[in-house]
Amino acid sequence: MHIDFSGKRVLVTGGTRGIGRGIVEAFLDAGARVAVNGASAASTAKAVAELAVGARVVAAPGSVANVAECRALVAAAVEGLGGLDVLVNNAGAGGGKPVEATDEAAWDRIIDTNLKGVFFVTQAALPALRAAKGNIVNIASVNGLIGVPKGSVYCASKAGVINLTRAHALEFAPDVRVNAVCPGGVDTDMLRALAARLAGTVEAGYKVIAADCAGQHRIAHVRELAGPVLYLASDIASFVTGSIHVVDGGETVD
Ligand SMILES: NC(=O)c1ccc[n+]([C@@H]2O[C@H](COP(=O)([O-])OP(=O)(O)OC[C@H]3O[C@@H](n4cnc5c(N)ncnc54)[C@H](O)[C@@H]3O)[C@@H](O)[C@H]2O)c1
Repeated sequence: MHIDFSGKRVLVTGGTRGIGRGIVEAFLDAGARVAVNGASAASTAKAVAELAVGARVVAAPGSVANVAECRALVAAAVEGLGGLDVLVNNAGAGGGKPVEATDEAAWDRIIDTNLKGVFFVTQAALPALRAAKGNIVNIASVNGLIGVPKGSVYCASKAGVINLTRAHALEFAPDVRVNAVCPGGVDTDMLRALAARLAGTVEAGYKVIAADCAGQHRIAHVRELAGPVLYLASDIASFVTGSIHVVDGGETVD
């Protein structure tokens, strides 16, 4: 089924590469106008140029880990698009270490990007989303549902995103729906770095991660995450709010 987003205005944080980039491209294919956020002006401008769809893409640079930049990037998106129908809180930071090796800077980097960023981008976007009766899709992780060793800060940040989703769905109802997607292993820079840490090389690490994915025995392509995000953001999901969608190829079933 083709979902039509013609006339819709979408902001994707961390939309320059990886899962976010896949979501940006899927919304553009579906006819939307999209504000692309990257942490720096340079990374955002590069992605906008690569997408090469002219006025349908707006640059909204800024780090989600900084509250002033959250406000500035949302303002750029709302001004550039003339309002906002959909916010995808996708920007995230990985990098797990044992508890004994985790310092305050590592805690702050992960929590500020993954949890504080979702909260303050949402806060800044709320007036425009309420005006449009829009919706929010938060990208959490299966690691917010299950624990993994040497990843406790990341796990805590994503569990926080999951319950933020439920609380915001109630607080913003009935104007703004809020849902979350929990990806399993998806082929991106973040997972490649994890795979290399896990087993020495990306290839060896991917074998371990794929073996753990009992339902599919493989890693997902970024576009396989975009479909569920577009569904949740569309009118097809008009009665869906506060829900947590696991998109993990069966990884957490057993
Ligand atoms: N790849 C996976 O297997 C996987 C699994 C579960 C969840 N996730 C989540 O999916 C989301 C996307 O991850 P990915 O795998 O594409 O990672 P990635 O590292 O390939 O991309 C992350 C994106 O976030 C952006 N970003 C990072 N810090 C930022 C900041 N401070 N401000 C603005 N943008 C920032 C990056 O520029 C990039 O565009 C993240 O929230 C991640 O936690 C990924």
